[in-house]
Amino acid sequence: MKRIGVLGSGKGSNFGAIAKAAAAGNLPVEIGIVLADVENAGILGLAQQHGIPNRFVPPGKYRTKLDPAAEQEYIRLLREARVDMVVLAGFMRMLKQPFIEAFAGRIINIHPSLLPAFPGLESWKQALDYGARYAGCTVHFVTLEMDAGPIILQAAVPIQSGDTAATLHERIQKEEHRIYVEALRLWAEDRLRIEGRRVIIRNT
Ligand code: GRF
Repeated sequence: MKRIGVLGSGKGSNFGAIAKAAAAGNLPVEIGIVLADVENAGILGLAQQHGIPNRFVPPGKYRTKLDPAAEQEYIRLLREARVDMVVLAGFMRMLKQPFIEAFAGRIINIHPSLLPAFPGLESWKQALDYGARYAGCTVHFVTLEMDAGPIILQAAVPIQSGDTAATLHERIQKEEHRIYVEALRLWAEDRLRIEGRRVIIRNT
């Protein structure tokens, strides 16, 4: 079975959906390790509940990226856990060249907008404030450029007139949990191929 390592900073609801699907036999992956850059992040407690090895790894002195020594430690731990794919699930720091090269083509992320619209932070709020009719989420491969790698799956979420940032985010997260598990299943079944910017999905 393929092995994944998960990186997160927050409550870990996407990780929870992935762990649940794997435990139920609906997703053929083994979760080798969960790493967080925030001490006591919810995602670590969730991993504990699922009996999955997990660890807080201090990020170092920067706010938006890992410092080089910390980045090497993340790489080391993921290699030690023999992961085939690095799954970013709400990891709030940019990964730099050494990391991206160490796992080239083997890093996947979920972003809470229909990329390429609204990259960056609080994208659901950006969509709401902009007056868009649709928000959504995107699962994509990670490249050096932020929120710009080849797109695997997307889901659109209509914006309703009474929406607040919180109600919209809640509906987007439901879709995130569904398409992240689905994208990982496609990968685990060897059905994804990258061709330039496009990801080709093979039918069974
Ligand atoms: C999600 O909204 C995801 O799109 C973004 O970070 C958030 C993580 O949420 N990248 P959770 O920790 O999985 O609940």
